[in-house]
Amino acid sequence: MKDIKKYIDTHQKRFLDELLELLKIPSISADKAYKKEVFATADAVAERLKEAGCAKVETCETPGYPIVYGELVKDKNLPTILIYGHYDVQPPDPLDLWDSEPFNPVIKKTELHPEGAIFARGACDDKGQMYMHVKALEYMTQNEDLPCNVKFMIEGEEEVGSENLGWFISRNQEKLANDVILISDTGMIAKEVPSITTGLRGLSYVEVEVTGPNRDLHSGLYGGAVANPINVLTKMIASLHDENNHITIPGFYDKVEELSTEERAKMAEAPFSLENYQKALDIDSVYGENGYATNERNSIRPTLDVNGIWGGYIGEGAKTVIASKAYAKISMRLVPDQDWKEITELFKTHFENIAPKGVKVKVTPHHGGQAYVTPIDSMGYKAAEQAYEKTFGKTPIPQRSGGSIPIVSLFERELKSKTILMGFGLDSDAIHSPNEHFGIWNFLKGIETIPHFYHEFTKLKTAKD
Ligand code: BES
Ligand code: MN
Ligand code: MN
Repeated sequence: MKDIKKYIDTHQKRFLDELLELLKIPSISADKAYKKEVFATADAVAERLKEAGCAKVETCETPGYPIVYGELVKDKNLPTILIYGHYDVQPPDPLDLWDSEPFNPVIKKTELHPEGAIFARGACDDKGQMYMHVKALEYMTQNEDLPCNVKFMIEGEEEVGSENLGWFISRNQEKLANDVILISDTGMIAKEVPSITTGLRGLSYVEVEVTGPNRDLHSGLYGGAVANPINVLTKMIASLHDENNHITIPGFYDKVEELSTEERAKMAEAPFSLENYQKALDIDSVYGENGYATNERNSIRPTLDVNGIWGGYIGEGAKTVIASKAYAKISMRLVPDQDWKEITELFKTHFENIAPKGVKVKVTPHHGGQAYVTPIDSMGYKAAEQAYEKTFGKTPIPQRSGGSIPIVSLFERELKSKTILMGFGLDSDAIHSPNEHFGIWNFLKGIETIPHFYHEFTKLKTAKD
């Protein structure tokens, strides 16, 4: 493995050029207008996997966007690692807040990334991180340094709820059989503080619609005499939190896993600067549930947030009108052992119950998924720990993340193997935001660390068998 650094040095310019090509295709899964581009991205990923040395590559059709499957099975007696990633990206809106075009990647230096960072939608989430695995495989096949079998499963619907991935997994259990699942689609604490993500939050995403009168009304002629859907909606939303920022939906906390004092004390040891956190976001104070620290609020506690709200007149100038309808999109981040379908039902019942007379309320569930936690004594975790020690010279810190990859809990249930989340992004990489970027240093460090995981895992697994 001593040659990996040299290999990366020699080929890094090409690695970057290839990634930039991939980033140019707007694979926005949420927007049907980009259907052709999403399919084209799947083909591009399949091509790259072939070039990197997969013996078999298939672009598997689903009722939605294809799943790219690749494998290199050397010997059935050797362990098998399954790599998961996604080639779809979030919509780039709002476009005017980007300093460069979202699908015309540029490399720029930043304070945190003096080596340069790639600015583009998907640079970090997840094309850049997924591509680290493709290039790690290239290194291993080109240098006869692949110690085990590998399978790739790269999907195109992660950002819209992975609806067809469950369908695909249940039909392909044998094909996807593996000893460990490895994903790079999360972050790390800081460049000098490597960490392994040991938890993801679950999710319930709903849309609500409040209807008042059957048409828009003159706000003078009718104002004060009928329920204004926007007034009502905002009041209903405000009532979903109490003065301690607890969520008021009956039963919402019933199944929430409570961490022990020791576990919370351990979490508090992870390096965190409140001052830097506030400075980076230009806020004078954090805000959240009473009784919990910031890094608890955003990882081990469930939340409810409005993600979008609209209705009425939003054009230029003033229009005196009471809108007939008001809408909001709401996400609830969930923790073990909340069940996302149950929470969605609790939300729906509660929201309908609190609606005043004079309006009709409709709640439409979108997608969701269960939370995930993984132990730090599994073989996969130990292998990852050793891999980071080799490339960072430090033991990585286990960290529960606030984000969601809903499909991970399904992997464990259906494929019966643990998932290891080796993420290389930074919180400041602005995923889902304008000016998303991914540090070149992080990209290359990922490529370097991944083959070590293969080796350490194979050692541990074959020693046990
Ligand atoms: N890669 C992210 C999730 C993530 C990012 C987890 C950083 C931990 C750290 C993933 O692509 C994502 O955005 N997931 C969505 C959920 C999905 C159902 C739309 C999310 O968390 O909002
Ligand atoms: Mn992602
Ligand atoms: Mn994402």
